[in-house]
Amino acid sequence: MAALTLIKTRGMKDEALPQLGALRRACAGRHEAIEALLRLDEALEPARYARVLAGFAAFVPRWEALVRARLPARLHGWFDARSRLPLLRRDLAALHLAPAAVDDPVAALALPDLGAALGSMYVLEGSALGGQLIARQLRQRWDMGPDNGAGWFTGHGARTGALWADFRACLARELGQDAAALASACAAGAATFDALLRCFEQVLGAEGHTEATMTTKMSREV
Ligand code: HEM
Repeated sequence: MAALTLIKTRGMKDEALPQLGALRRACAGRHEAIEALLRLDEALEPARYARVLAGFAAFVPRWEALVRARLPARLHGWFDARSRLPLLRRDLAALHLAPAAVDDPVAALALPDLGAALGSMYVLEGSALGGQLIARQLRQRWDMGPDNGAGWFTGHGARTGALWADFRACLARELGQDAAALASACAAGAATFDALLRCFEQVLGAEGHTEATMTTKMSREV
């Protein structure tokens, strides 16, 4: 898949931004692990897609509440404007899915300071980049878009690049040359990937109702 080529070139850009380079290094192995776990490649099946969405639906609301609470009030409007949660909720409604029943996926995620909150945000902000490739695949294979089940991965669509640039600028501005803040961001980025991995290990290990419901709905629509 085209994603693989892009993944190999990831890190070639933004070399001038040391904060981003450090986050990438801290998280690279875990990104590979989550790609391997989700397997959103050409072999993706509707049932698996449904479980992945249900997993994000279990994770994202709790994660957003946690991060928002750790950010200073001056960044709340900025954070809220980037949210993809309404799009995810629209997907659940369109596909008649419910959030997966998992242990609180962010219970073990300590975000003690602003650096940690931004490091955690790096993970979900970055996932919007890979999401563009997945959205393209969903459109091609199942004619799915933001209105019928692919809203989360479509995200902010054409604005994704600009939002990522804005996030990188925020990282540089807020972390500056503060080594302790950067270390906190890297630890939180890794811990956020771990929390996602734990969540999806539970979701994708389970068989169930979600799969049956989604398969029926999609086969009706295709
Ligand atoms: C929960 C799942 C995922 C998370 C949390 C996640 C997280 C991230 C992060 C943090 C980045 C930014 C890396 C950087 O530039 O520093 C990124 C980029 C990327 N991800 Fe993922 N990712 C996920 C799933 C996937 C999957 C399943 C794929 C493949 C199908 C994928 C493909 C990519 C690609 C191609 C990029 C680079 C995009 C670009 O540079 O334009 N990701 N992801």
